[in-house]
Amino acid sequence: MATQNSLVISLGGSMILSGGVNIKYLSDFCNILSKYKGVTFGIVAGGGRFAREYADAVRKLCHSEFEADEIAIMSTKQNAKLLISACNGKLNVFPEVIDTFSKAKEVAKDYDVLAMGGTIPGITTDADAVLLAEAIGARTVINLSNVDGVYNKDPKHNKDAKKYGLLSHADLVSLAKIKDDRKAGKHFVFDLVACKLAQRSNIEIHFISGR
Ligand code: UTP
Repeated sequence: MATQNSLVISLGGSMILSGGVNIKYLSDFCNILSKYKGVTFGIVAGGGRFAREYADAVRKLCHSEFEADEIAIMSTKQNAKLLISACNGKLNVFPEVIDTFSKAKEVAKDYDVLAMGGTIPGITTDADAVLLAEAIGARTVINLSNVDGVYNKDPKHNKDAKKYGLLSHADLVSLAKIKDDRKAGKHFVFDLVACKLAQRSNIEIHFISGR
């Protein structure tokens, strides 16, 4: 086990990119992390708008979901690099984007912040976040996105959407199953694979508005 006091944050790409790069958000985010001494933060950056645009372009150009995922992963890594730049000088951050979970496990022993993007085609950064939690021994993943919880319908398009309170892993998996369609840039508030991984290791997921 890497650290006693570790926490994983899945930072949605839409938090990092709103219009362009949200420099103020990144800077404020790192200022908040710097207040928590003695905690090792594993951050997984999502792809956001650019990941979706690039993935859609590749899908049209070569009809390959695999290659659409590959280019989207590049965007997530760029966002992870932005996060590292924002933490520089404020936090003891590992200076490179980490691309394997075994590397993350090693780095978590010596650094307070480590940043990752996506890893392999076919999953999302939600699943990466839970795998990272397993790797570094974190019991909790905080999902920061535009959505402040799990709803029965998409709250962006349904005014009558109802937010669930505490959900068991089994209920979360059932909800994620209904929405799963395995296409780059399209998924439920938390990916099905991620929900199942959280279930197997009993990792708590907190859904919080990134704003
Ligand atoms: P995410 O969908 O996980 O990022 O990755 P996001 O921007 O936070 O998602 P939102 O904000 O909730 O919409 C973007 C895309 O990158 C590919 C997938 O295509 C995914 O949809 N990806 C990411 C992978 O193929 N593998 C990974 O490990 C991570």
